[in-house]
Amino acid sequence: MKKALFPTVIILAGWLGAVPSALPQDVSWQPYRGYDVPFVPTPTEVVDEMLRLAGVKAGDVLYDLGCGDGRIVIAAAKRYGVRAIGIDIDPVRIRESNDNAAKAGLSGKVRFLQEDLFKADFKEATVVTMYLLTSVNLRLRPKILAELKPGTRLVSHSFEMGDWKPDKTSAVSTSFGDERDVHFWIVPANATGRWEWDVADGSRSKHCVLEASQQFQVVTASGRDGDWPLAVADIRLTGDAISFRVDTETDGKMSSHIYEGKIKGDQIAGTVRPAADPKAVAVAWKATRDPKTVVSIAQ
Ligand SMILES: C[S@@+](CC[C@H](N)C(=O)[O-])C[C@H]1O[C@@H](n2cnc3c(N)ncnc32)[C@H](O)[C@@H]1O
Repeated sequence: MKKALFPTVIILAGWLGAVPSALPQDVSWQPYRGYDVPFVPTPTEVVDEMLRLAGVKAGDVLYDLGCGDGRIVIAAAKRYGVRAIGIDIDPVRIRESNDNAAKAGLSGKVRFLQEDLFKADFKEATVVTMYLLTSVNLRLRPKILAELKPGTRLVSHSFEMGDWKPDKTSAVSTSFGDERDVHFWIVPANATGRWEWDVADGSRSKHCVLEASQQFQVVTASGRDGDWPLAVADIRLTGDAISFRVDTETDGKMSSHIYEGKIKGDQIAGTVRPAADPKAVAVAWKATRDPKTVVSIAQ
């Protein structure tokens, strides 16, 4: 990314009554009357990329946290026909957003709420957009991970989420002559804890135990099949969808199986099939977790 503007530019621009083209990269804004970020609009080409990268589609419910003049909400409702809601703490921005929605012929189709995004309820979102500072994203991160449904898509203009690494990042050239990053994350389900299931192995039934820990979307696990260690590899977690490979040795012969399922509370429901034969019939697989072993991932 090209060198970003410095905070002095924002202060000077504010004093001159002009709006700068980008937020500063460094966290230097002092929260003012509860405003954690100053108003700086996202360029149209970056709005387009945010909506594309989030995969906005019919049926989505989009929330823009700190909606400014309402441009992301209005673009989402206009182009994708989705229900879109903007939250901003500044009453001037809410008035401006409502005026812009009326000009776009969207009055009654979008909503703008004057609220503090840290206190607001946006649990119903399937897509969340943000142009806030990294320090604000980090303060918001526990709320996002605790309250949003697994599978909710997040996009952020320029700013990241610390050690919660984005699932994807793209870069957009703007008419201001600079380049902006757009970051994308999928809210992961909580896969931590001790999972257990039984699986048929020839004539006998094996009892498998998997102990999983998790750092955001990255899951690590070790397992046992009775007294034997279970080799677990390629663990993937995308929203509530989990998959992994288990390698076992029976009577001196190695075999690998792919487990795929959806996490719902303390249950996983899915299928298991031999890794070597993608056409083999998958059999049903159900795992259960001891709720006492769950560890919070909201950090
Ligand atoms: C950088 S602007 C982004 C505007 C818009 N989302 C966009 O991308 O064009 C950040 C916005 O967040 C709002 N804001 C700052 N602190 C807030 C808070 N605690 N709760 C809600 N909105 C806040 C500001 O008023 C400002 O309009």
